[in-house]
Amino acid sequence: MVQLIKGINLYLVGMMGAGKSTVGRVLARELGYRFFDTDDLIAQIAGKSIPEIFAEAGEDGFRDLENQVLSQLCPYKNLVVATGGGIVLRRENWSYLHHGIVVWLDVPLDVLQARLQGDGTRPLLQDPDPWGKLRSLLDQRLHLYAQADVKIKVSAEATPEHLAQQVLTAIPQVLKPATDHI
Ligand code: S3P
Repeated sequence: MVQLIKGINLYLVGMMGAGKSTVGRVLARELGYRFFDTDDLIAQIAGKSIPEIFAEAGEDGFRDLENQVLSQLCPYKNLVVATGGGIVLRRENWSYLHHGIVVWLDVPLDVLQARLQGDGTRPLLQDPDPWGKLRSLLDQRLHLYAQADVKIKVSAEATPEHLAQQVLTAIPQVLKPATDHI
């Protein structure tokens, strides 16, 4: 697999609470890749937490930083990148994501809800009706996540190791059309 994938980056997309960072770290270990989380990089660059950035610069300011971080990661190889749940919203981000393999961790709403219960770190859920908000974000984004190259259906019981294996098993199918042309 390590030879087959030839250093192509993996970008994990999906809703908040989908487990992108946890699964991403396992994938990076399996592939001998480096792991990055766009939210961590944004917080480092800004010298502020994600809620602080949202409070001071709004969602648009945050999305600008997200776009900047993604553009700077894109030229590198051998990366697994866990992205923020809303990275799929800007069309320009897809031009970067499609340099690599985009993997969608598709997690049912009730599982996301259970995982995000009591979470204070996601500004978009600081809403009088957080679960209504989560549902509407998912509804708005489903067609965007569906543009991923690989879709992994995640159950409540699936372990990060199992999910990482599912991703690794799916990758050759995605690489096949490209190598067929060589
Ligand atoms: C967001 C998801 C968060 C973070 C920010 C916005 C979103 O990342 O980027 O709070 O729009 O879904 P995670 O998906 O890692 O929670």
